[in-house]
Amino acid sequence: MKKLVVAMMAAILSMSLLTACGNTAGEAAPADTASEVETTTEDAATEEEVPAGEGEVSEDSSALADGVLNVGTNAEFPPFEYMNDNGEADGFDIALIRAIGEKLGVEVQVDNMEFASLVSSIGSKIDVAIAGMTVTDERKAAVDFSNSYYNAVQYVILPEGSDIATADDLKGKAIGVQLGTTGDFIAEEIEDATTSQYNKAVDAVNDLVNGRLDCVIIDKNPALVFESKFEGQVTAVDGAQFDFEAEEYAIAMPKGDTVLADKINTALQELIDDGTFDSLVSEYIEN
Ligand code: ARG
Repeated sequence: MKKLVVAMMAAILSMSLLTACGNTAGEAAPADTASEVETTTEDAATEEEVPAGEGEVSEDSSALADGVLNVGTNAEFPPFEYMNDNGEADGFDIALIRAIGEKLGVEVQVDNMEFASLVSSIGSKIDVAIAGMTVTDERKAAVDFSNSYYNAVQYVILPEGSDIATADDLKGKAIGVQLGTTGDFIAEEIEDATTSQYNKAVDAVNDLVNGRLDCVIIDKNPALVFESKFEGQVTAVDGAQFDFEAEEYAIAMPKGDTVLADKINTALQELIDDGTFDSLVSEYIEN
């Protein structure tokens, strides 16, 4: 966001220099922003050579310059993100990004939105997204990803007593998915299958229980959470049985913000090294 503003200000500044001093376009820029433009454009090269100290807010990372990390998520994906009893976004990913924010010395603000809107909101409405998001080539065309932090695979949730057991059995079936997820993309490739896309994964599972769907395709850990929530009504089956490929979760970030990427990756590594990461895994996932 800031980058864009700075670029616009730079354009306005050079326009006003090219025309006459003191025109209205030049006046529209507040004095402090104008001086920031000078630092950003002229000192960019020297600034990059100086690594920012730990916990400091660096001027050269567009996303962190205001001291706030705006994080987008979709809190419909337990145990990674869900709404807790206080109506706040909670879960492994939220705890992880808060710990990263603490390392970076910035405030973390979480915005709960539709999963399918996350990627396109990065760089405008939000700085980064953490949402059990799988690294895919399609997404990589629009955003950068941090180092991956979790291994995943799609699972198939079946009603109790279903005879679906192989990839072939999924052909022609009524499949529920969460809109815009890798489960959605897999379902769309299945021959003659009808895909129903839901904004909330739990709504898909409810329709499965009500007999409107033959199965739900969703990531492993949420599938296991739903299996225990709907105990006796559904079973979660490993996607390896259906030839689904391994996936990896990472934090999605604005394309080309290498300063931010380095900071996030460094913080992530520190949290892994000091044991924080593992304790969050046992607190939220393997409990
Ligand atoms: N891993 C899947 C994907 O990246 C599903 C993620 C859904 N996450 C969520 N918070 N709803 O497409």
